[in-house]
Amino acid sequence: MVDVQAPSLTLGLVGTGMMGRGIAQLAAQAGITVRLFDARPQAAEEARASVASTLEMLVTKGRLSPEEARAATARLEPVPYEASLAGCDVVVEAIVEDLGVKQALFTRLEGIVGPECLLATNTSSLSVTAIASACERPGRVGGFHFFNPVPLMKVVEVIEGARTEPWVGETLVLLARRLGHRPVRAADTPGFIVNHAGRGFGTEALRILQEGVASFEVIDRVLRDAAGFRMGPFELLDLTGLDVSHPVMESVYEQFYQEPRFRPSYVLRQRLTAGLLGRKSGQGFYSHEGGRPHAVPEPVLPKGEQRPVWVAADEPGWREALLALVRAAGWFPDDGEHPAPESLCLLAPLGRDATTTALALELDPERTVAVDLLFGPERRRTVMTTPVTRPAFLDSALALLGADGTPVARIHDSTGFVAQRVLATVVNIACDIAQQRIASPEDIDAAVTLGLGYPLGPLAWGDALGPRRVLKVLDAIHAASGDPRYRASPWLSRRARLGVSLLTPER
Ligand code: NAI
Repeated sequence: MVDVQAPSLTLGLVGTGMMGRGIAQLAAQAGITVRLFDARPQAAEEARASVASTLEMLVTKGRLSPEEARAATARLEPVPYEASLAGCDVVVEAIVEDLGVKQALFTRLEGIVGPECLLATNTSSLSVTAIASACERPGRVGGFHFFNPVPLMKVVEVIEGARTEPWVGETLVLLARRLGHRPVRAADTPGFIVNHAGRGFGTEALRILQEGVASFEVIDRVLRDAAGFRMGPFELLDLTGLDVSHPVMESVYEQFYQEPRFRPSYVLRQRLTAGLLGRKSGQGFYSHEGGRPHAVPEPVLPKGEQRPVWVAADEPGWREALLALVRAAGWFPDDGEHPAPESLCLLAPLGRDATTTALALELDPERTVAVDLLFGPERRRTVMTTPVTRPAFLDSALALLGADGTPVARIHDSTGFVAQRVLATVVNIACDIAQQRIASPEDIDAAVTLGLGYPLGPLAWGDALGPRRVLKVLDAIHAASGDPRYRASPWLSRRARLGVSLLTPER
């Protein structure tokens, strides 16, 4: 086993592009000697110069002392030949994402490095098992998957292939800690943790768009404000570029043998064909000027007529929350057992659409409007109509719900509004990662918060919303759509019924 704490630890880094430079910087700052090799002549030298200038910038910003920067730079050693990697304790490759090229590199390295040397790949989409399979000793090969930009994204996935020996994962975990990153361990499966767990957000947003429920900017607003995502799914697609994100969506879907939970959308394929790539092409879902998306202004709420409001809700406490909103706006609740003929019927369903809820309660769907309360009424309210809601009643609902200045988004009828659907999908996929024993519940949440920047880990988020409620949303959408995409993971369904946390591991 490699002693990763050894002061003399020497790390070989093959491929000194964007990722290689980031990994080299971390290692050099952690006191590790780094031999840099790249197939392109001068590339390793350029990488050294580029990391040196990054370190100098950190000195200017006061984050590093001049001595630390000098010492770290001195640990970067560009080397001219692969053979110069002989004697390294660990070699990490960050070369092109091509299975054949990576296999060939590792088989060559086996002839160069000593028998104790650990070989690691930074692949994001290839199978570690497949890369290792060409080696004489596949047991010493592991995945060490960093995220871009490496120094800022403080997480690294440690991947064990089918034949990886246990010491490899353990060593990479310790190495990750020495580099100051949080290691998360994952089985060698498509997308590992982060790129697997991240499939729900964009694909469900695209389904909502495709169903004509809401425009892309409304979906973004709701997910940012109500759910608390830093960026809406369409802003994120524009930032990443469809030329990157759509092929990843297709690849993960195919690698899981067309698992419906990861189904991509024709909407993206078509936009990609049209060259609407996002920020890099100037036009994606948003128009971009100077690298920033052009903000789409929120529509001004109509001055709807005040009328009595009859309320009903699917969850305990929600009816009272609706009544409080009505009273705070200075409007009058209709307390009758059935709504009076001119009353607005304001509903707060969970999982169901406005039409189904109105019909189940034998209400007039022309006077029915639904509002999403799963995320609370404070930051943003989402209002949903039946296909026959009269405009005057919608206007009344918008005026009522916007009376205190809280932003209101209007969508068409949808099982689970926008945020309920997207969150239930995200939580369900994370639950299934745990169910498949791809990673521990703690590592799933750490990987997603650090790797995707979600405000909460998906399992902790499911706990905060209530596992029973998340299950109810999925079951309702599954029943209404018949789409196996929405079938609940057994991990979620069992824990929701047992009333325990989604972070509860199997005993
Ligand atoms: P890059 O294109 O910036 O750098 C790749 C470098 O590898 C180039 O300098 C190239 O000359 C060199 N190279 C290519 N073939 C080589 C070979 N056979 N031997 C030695 N050097 C060789 O690529 P980037 O973005 O740094 O990605 C590298 C790897 O990291 C890929 O496997 C990629 O999947 C993975 N990765 C990339 C992420 C990203 O956001 N760009 C995120 C996580 C992983």
